[in-house]
Amino acid sequence: MLMPTNHTDGIAAHIETGKRLLEEREESIARMKQCRFDTISVHGLYTMQEALSANQGSIIEPLYLSTSQGYADADQMEAALSYQIPTWCYARIANPTTYYLEWALALLEGYGGDFETSAMVTSSGMSAIMSAIDPFLVKRTQDPSEQMNFVASCHVYGGTFQQFQVRRNDERGHSVRWVKEITEIDEWASLIDDETRFLYAELPSNPGLKLCDIEQLANLAHSHGIPLIVDATVATPALMRPLQQGADIVVHSLSKTICSSGMGIGGALISRKGIVTNVENDNGMREDFASYVKFLPGRDNGPSMSPFQALMTLNDLRTLRSKVDTMSRTSQTVAEFLEAHPRVESVNYLGLPSNPSHHIAKRSMHLVDSDLEYGVPVNRYGHLMSFTVEGGGDGAKSVLDSFEMIFRATDLGRIKSVATIPAISTHQQQGEAARLMAGVPDNMLRLSIGGEHPEDIIKDLERGLDSI
Ligand SMILES: Cc1ncc(COP(=O)(O)O)c(C=O)c1O
Repeated sequence: MLMPTNHTDGIAAHIETGKRLLEEREESIARMKQCRFDTISVHGLYTMQEALSANQGSIIEPLYLSTSQGYADADQMEAALSYQIPTWCYARIANPTTYYLEWALALLEGYGGDFETSAMVTSSGMSAIMSAIDPFLVKRTQDPSEQMNFVASCHVYGGTFQQFQVRRNDERGHSVRWVKEITEIDEWASLIDDETRFLYAELPSNPGLKLCDIEQLANLAHSHGIPLIVDATVATPALMRPLQQGADIVVHSLSKTICSSGMGIGGALISRKGIVTNVENDNGMREDFASYVKFLPGRDNGPSMSPFQALMTLNDLRTLRSKVDTMSRTSQTVAEFLEAHPRVESVNYLGLPSNPSHHIAKRSMHLVDSDLEYGVPVNRYGHLMSFTVEGGGDGAKSVLDSFEMIFRATDLGRIKSVATIPAISTHQQQGEAARLMAGVPDNMLRLSIGGEHPEDIIKDLERGLDSI
């Protein structure tokens, strides 16, 4: 990523200082890697030393609202803008507050792995997905008829479906090949050819909660020289860390569980150092994908997160593990209640043995560090479920309209429980055929469980179901 520049003595001196700063950062990273998940969530890379020496002892990370960084002299500016020293330049590219969120997420997503990670935060989950896929959908030759495609699970959030199908496939000719049975590795394999740039899966999916074996999928991708990108929004790193299972890049909508207070939209792209790709580039894309995207295409396309949002997200992130634990335990109780209710036709929750993906979830979703509390790793299955009710689409609307506490909202991962009917909201625009392909019938409600007591959530659900 370095750009050519004159090496004056002044620039050389700034580069030396920059090297020392980078060494100190490496030491902080190494120290934090010795810490447990909760400690990393609370502190990230913001150290006491940094607080005392540079931030007047502020316990909380400083909020830098400044759009740009001032430099000591022309040499420092030149070294900074050619990316030869650590710098944040301009808040569209980087910022000291977003930096702390990026490092906390990179460390959490890499937790327990013996590899290095880096992260870039973005203005939304959708822009994280766009930022993650865009660098692969580029021309590799001068041939004007060159084709490119990518292979994706059809069980993705409605917005992702639109981005892939409409913005990429229909508008730009970047062909998306949808996989219907995501546990069938042969179906994935049959759709890959020399022009395939990456595999993409949302695991577990929203709202279908589909899961497949990440390691198997990563091995398939790598055998074709391409990366696996996983949207792990629903699980969060508290339950599943796909990079450890071989994925190259993870994307998150931070707007969900990671920012569970519901006060912000944000996204993140986290990659392992040294991804597999068949797109060659001399700018460090393979070596450090997230940093490459952040400092080059991200600089030019501008999907950056506001520093204020980064601080709000950091605040929510600090208690991620305990919230995911509580929300998961309550969800299990609620799912069992729904499964036994006579007006409920089916319940889709990964924690129910009746769920077709339960055995995969049992293998791959554990509350991080639960072995320290319980002696063995303990399964937790997250906050998201869907269920179908008697009475078709009208029955679903009647249930939804009767809630007095559970909010009617196209939202999930909140500290407050929320519900929606996907067919009339998140999955409305993709049409009936695509909804059928994604397994989203008219009488399905999606329910995201918050931090309320399970008894009160069940009372509201009973009220809704009695109305059918
Ligand atoms: C799994 C998943 N990925 C991505 C997104 C998009 O995130 P955002 O709303 O932050 O753009 C969502 C939004 O619901 C989602 O559920």
